[in-house]
Amino acid sequence: MRPLIRLCRAAPGASLAFGVFAACAVLACSSNSDGNTGDAGPSDTDASGSCPDIQPTCPAEIPSYAKDVAPIVQNRCFPCHAPGGVEAASHNLSTYDGLYRDRVDVLDQIHSCRMPKAPAPALTQSERAIFLNWLVCHAPNN
Ligand code: HEC
Repeated sequence: MRPLIRLCRAAPGASLAFGVFAACAVLACSSNSDGNTGDAGPSDTDASGSCPDIQPTCPAEIPSYAKDVAPIVQNRCFPCHAPGGVEAASHNLSTYDGLYRDRVDVLDQIHSCRMPKAPAPALTQSERAIFLNWLVCHAPNN
């Protein structure tokens, strides 16, 4: 960014200078926002550690444990957190009670994208949002 702007400021011709600078500023902005989009790009960089910030809220229509959350846990967490999995002994998430008991840690792990642990694939942003919203609704057995 900086070299580009400096280059633009050095453009000769007093009457042109403002227009050139403005054009360069636009250019600078667009390449800047391109850069940011690349950094934050959720869809293609999840696996490499990108973790878009989600501010969970408890929506009027509370996500359902049975219909919304349990299928996510089953697909994404059971491989390690159900009986037979490497982490089942200390964090058994295969039942509502087990998940409820660990809800604070689960919230933390999902919010920070630390779970599912590699090499398991990351949650999609919509899975994260459903899970986090349900958790901030106090994880009801609904
Ligand atoms: C590939 C295996 C694997 C998968 C899949 C997985 N985990 Fe884990 N999880 C682990 C391991 C191993 C640990 C032990 C701590 C560590 O190694 O980070 C752990 C620890 C945890 C902990 C305790 C963290 C702490 O505070 O110490 C929570 C909570 C958790 N996992 C939640 C989840 C949830 C929720 C999912 C699904 C969305 C999930 N995990 C998917 C392997 C996995």
